[in-house]
Parts: sequence; structure tokens; C-alpha cells
Amino acid sequence: MRVVIQQDYDKMCEWSANYIANAIREKAKKTDKPFVLGLPTGSSPLGVYKRLAEMNKAGKVSFKNVVTFNMDEYVGLPREHDQSYWYFMWSNFFDHIDIPKENVNILNGMADDLEAECARYEAKIASYGVIDLFLGGIGVDGHLAFNEPFTSLGSRTGVRGLTSDTKIANSRFFGYDPEKVPSYALSVGVATVTDSKEVLLLINGHHKARALAASVEGGVTQKWTASALQLHPAAIIACDEPACGELTVDTYKFVLDMEKNERL
Ligand code: GLP
Repeated sequence: MRVVIQQDYDKMCEWSANYIANAIREKAKKTDKPFVLGLPTGSSPLGVYKRLAEMNKAGKVSFKNVVTFNMDEYVGLPREHDQSYWYFMWSNFFDHIDIPKENVNILNGMADDLEAECARYEAKIASYGVIDLFLGGIGVDGHLAFNEPFTSLGSRTGVRGLTSDTKIANSRFFGYDPEKVPSYALSVGVATVTDSKEVLLLINGHHKARALAASVEGGVTQKWTASALQLHPAAIIACDEPACGELTVDTYKFVLDMEKNERL
């Protein structure tokens, strides 16, 4: 696992946006096949979306041949709800780039048959062969997408119950009332993410320091589902300095030392 430590949130986002844009451009040089990009919601990726949209406007990267799959969606929130992940993605990203509407995939948390919706989603991902790059964030409890602690590291897309911790954390978007946060979500599985060719996780802020340390220094465990990336051949964690607060000095030095050998 590669860990890229940046000084602050802005620099972490800049580095990550450049990495993603470069991956899209490199694939476009080799093939006409679309670039398949997994995407998260949350506050962590906002700076990355902003920069990618700016790069798109400046002609530095195009999303015309990019197909996206979002990680998750709340159950029971219609698209028009300002806290649905559909709404979040369109208002914060898709409305600002040149992606064709039909290339966007987001789980439908209002489907009559939620299990069938999840199976359809996995099948659609499979129809593209493999996701080229899955961008993600993590929760303070180390959850990846909505794969809360003790979700199987072999899980696929399915219905997930949210922990009280996550409902409290996400209540900031629901008038600080955890009761207003949906109790269920549809989410890609841990294995859906780790099946991707590359995974890039954004981890920023003091409040994520424990999760970062557990994901990087702890063992691979279902208690911290993001730790599954330790087994991935091409996983990157991009983080800021405040998120490194719980890393040992040894780890911190080792990671910076290893970065000297990287080209991008
Ligand atoms: C939610 C999402 C996760 C996201 C997490 C962290 O729970 N399901 O995919 O990574 O929030 O969000 P934030 O980036 O706002 O800290």
C-alpha cells in the first residue's frame, strides 16, 4: 500500500485530482474503451471534484469517455432530496463536467426490490470488466463505502444497516438529528472496491487519525473494513498531516522515505 502524505487538505485534493486526471488521460491514449471510475460522496472528495471540474473546463481532462459507479446511496431518500447521494453527486460534480448523463451509475435507494437493485448494479459493473480506479473516503470508524465494522471483507453490493456512530457523524447534514439519518443504505461491498485495478482513498483531518492508523498499521480486519486495502496490489491512501496524528513516528518516517522513490 502506498501512503501519500500531503501538508493539508487542499494539497491532498490537488495531488489526488492530478492522479485521477492522469489515469484517465493515460488510458485514453491506449484504447477507446471507457475509463471506469468508482466515486464516493462525503466532505472528503469535495476538493477533488472541484479541481477535476476546473481541469475539465480548462481542457486538461475530459469525462466524455468516463463511466462512473457511485459507492453508495441512502435507502428511502428520493433523488430530489438534498441529502441523497444522487443529488450530492450531480450538484457537486456531474453538473460541472462534460460526462454524458447515461455514463453515470448511482444505486437507487428507492427501488421496490433493493436486493435486485444491488444485483443489477454488480452485473452492470461486471459488464465493463473491471473498475479502473475506485476513489473512496472512510468513516471515523474506518468504514469503506457503507461497509461498517464487521462487514465481511468479501462482501458485494448489498443493503447495509448503519451504526449509531455513523448516524451521529452524518447527522450534521440532517439538522444534527441522528433520528433523521436513514438507518439503511445500499452500498458496494468491500470486495467490489478491492476488485478494482486501483483504489485511491482520501483520509483527512484529526478525526480520521485513528482510522488511518488502524487501516495502515493494524492487521487486516473486518473491524476496520478499509484495512482490506492492505491486500490490494495497487492501493493508495492520500492523506493530510492532521490525519497522521496516530501513526507511529517510525511509520511516518518510513512512508515519507518510500515516497521519494515514486514518480507520480
Ligand atoms: C459516509 C459515506 C462514506 C464516506 C464517509 C466519510 O458514511 N458512506 O463513503 O467515506 O461518509 O465522509 P466524510 O468524507 O464526510 O468524512
